[in-house]
Amino acid sequence: MNLTLHVWRQKSAGENGRFVSYDAQGIDAHMSFLEMLDVVNENLETGGEEPIAFDHDCREGICGSCSMVINGRPHGPWKETTVCQLHMRHYEDGDEIWIEPWRASGFPVIRDLVVDRSSLDRIVASGGFISARTGSAPDANAILISKANADRSMDAAECIGCGACVAACPNGSAMLYTAAKVSHLGILPQGQPERYTRVANMVQQMEKEGFGACRNYAECEAQCPKKISIQFISRMNCDYLRATLLRPIDFRGKTDSE
Ligand code: SF4
Ligand code: FES
Repeated sequence: MNLTLHVWRQKSAGENGRFVSYDAQGIDAHMSFLEMLDVVNENLETGGEEPIAFDHDCREGICGSCSMVINGRPHGPWKETTVCQLHMRHYEDGDEIWIEPWRASGFPVIRDLVVDRSSLDRIVASGGFISARTGSAPDANAILISKANADRSMDAAECIGCGACVAACPNGSAMLYTAAKVSHLGILPQGQPERYTRVANMVQQMEKEGFGACRNYAECEAQCPKKISIQFISRMNCDYLRATLLRPIDFRGKTDSE
């Protein structure tokens, strides 16, 4: 199939960017979106032009690198799908496709479609870990965890740190990402000792990085390729309230439902 691409080109963070149009010809319907861009880049390089810079790594939907907005939607038109898992069979011959980087003040553009997402790493570095020495792997049943809590923690841990939630939010909020990282530890017994310092530090770092506040648009959940629920944001807000306005000591050892 033949397509027309309108791609955001920007040489560096300090320079203005603009859309540049390219013909993508002879694209196989079985290619992934990134393979289609590889073909376009090969043609650009053959013609002596700069290839389009874009992030990618695993190409299996697990690393969260392939961040781009396609026709106005982070990760493109298909629900629960990263760009690397989006295939060209979903497009038709003659389609026009607009491709942009994530747009958020917390994600400055580095070049073309590549943005600096180190702000997300700094949120995790501020508290998304446990500092207890864990030694070697414990026996599987040494720490009892209810099935419900294990499942909820795993649901939160599915977050791949792609940043689509931020790009989708009209406020550029990183609440869904932060809530997922706060919750996957905060729900488990191992995460309890630092539960309240963790949430306070991570939320404060999120604000320092320039991300906006949550206004319940729920666009983050709609565009998240891992279907992270906005219920985790409620949970994080509850823990943050306990950590900052109430006495966290009163809640130590209690489960989410108490
Ligand atoms: S919450 Fe979803 S959209 Fe946001 S970073 Fe995690 S996986 Fe990506
Ligand atoms: S390249 Fe790893 S999730 Fe897309």
